[in-house]
Parts: sequence; C-alpha cells; structure tokens
Amino acid sequence: MSARSKSSKAWLHEHVNDHYVHMAQKDGYRARAAYKLLEINEKDKLIKPGTILADLGSAPGSWSQVAAKLAGPSGAVFALDILPMEAVNGVSFIQGDFRENDVLAQFETLLNNRPLDLVICDMAPNMSGNAVSDQARSLYLCELALDFASQHLKTGGSFLVKVFQGAGYQEYMAAMRGIFGTVQTRKPEASRNRSSEIYLLGKNKR
Ligand SMILES: C[S@@+](CC[C@H](N)C(=O)[O-])C[C@H]1O[C@@H](n2cnc3c(N)ncnc32)[C@H](O)[C@@H]1O
Repeated sequence: MSARSKSSKAWLHEHVNDHYVHMAQKDGYRARAAYKLLEINEKDKLIKPGTILADLGSAPGSWSQVAAKLAGPSGAVFALDILPMEAVNGVSFIQGDFRENDVLAQFETLLNNRPLDLVICDMAPNMSGNAVSDQARSLYLCELALDFASQHLKTGGSFLVKVFQGAGYQEYMAAMRGIFGTVQTRKPEASRNRSSEIYLLGKNKR
C-alpha cells in the first residue's frame, strides 16, 4: 500500500472516530459507545418505555444514559461496573467486580427478584496485549453474563453482549442458541473500525 493511501486510511479512521466523539459531546453522552446501542436499538427495538434491564460493565455510563432515557420512568435500569460511575438519573448502580460472588449477590439484592426484559453487556477487561489471555478473560466475563441472563431474564427476554471473535466464539454462540430462540450478530457503524468486537443478540429466551 502506498504511503498516500495508508495515510488517507488513517485519516478516515480518525475522522470516523472523531465524528462519534464529537456527536457524543454535543448530545451529552459520556462515551461514543452510546451510538452503538442507539443503532442496535433502532433496528431491534430492545428498549421501550417500561423496559426493565441490567447493564453489565456500565461505566462511564453512556449505555445507561441511553437505556434510562428510552425505558423512561415506568422502566428500570440496574447497572454494575468494577469502576466507579457518576450517577445517571433513573439508574441504580453498584460498583464491584462481576466475577465475585458477593458482588453478584449484592446486584441480585438490588434486582429484588424482578424478572428482566433485557440484559445488555459491554464488559471488557483491561487488555494486557497478550491476545490469548485477553480473549480468555473477555470470554469468561461473557460467560458469567450469559449465566446471569439465563437466570434473571423473563421468558421471551433478550440479551445483547459484546464478544471478541476468536477462540471460544463459536462455542459461546452455540451456548446462546441453547438459551434463546434466535441468536444474531450486530456490528453497528460506531464499532466499525474496532478490532474483532461484535455484538451478539439473543432474543426470545426460552
Ligand atoms: C467498553 S466499557 C463499557 C462502556 C459502557 N457501555 C458505556 O457506554 O459507557 C467496558 C467496561 O467493562 C468494565 N469491566 C471490566 N471488567 C469488569 C468486571 N470484572 N466487573 C465489572 N465490570 C467490568 C470496565 O470497567 C469498563 O467500564
């Protein structure tokens, strides 16, 4: 590839990223990730007034912002992250490591046995640069999220999860197919230039 086309590719990459960063600033979202959820929701109508949902790996909070706005006062958003998150109106948040049993128990107490319409999970570990262990750690979080979804979603509920295509991806999809009526992939515009990340959407929990 010539230097010129390389640099124009780099420019395009920056430009596309900047576009969403600027939009997020203008629209008052804490992260450009907001547009991934908005785009998926536009197509799949996951969140509507009254939706009760959990947001796993919620910080800095742009998905929670989108979810709370769409679910409205008749809905409820329960959010969790290992990092602190500034309060979002209409969102109940706890800080803790989702891998720890007592954190899960605390989150379940917050839900108070309310069956969920939707679980959204954008959790991703800090990347170490070692592709094998990063993939394994990421997949483990996705597996925990799937367990959680299978226990707390109502029949007919949906699960949206970020995964990285790599070792274990096919097996994970197969596990989702065992729990949901349909499993589809989603690759929103705002995530176009991002590594191997893809969103899996399970609908119609059995
Ligand atoms: C890509 S960010 C989420 C962005 C968020 N959806 C938003 O729109 O603002 C991934 C999040 O996963 C969280 N995370 C990673 N490991 C976690 C764990 N073990 N327990 C809870 N959260 C975790 C990180 O702290 C980080 O905030």
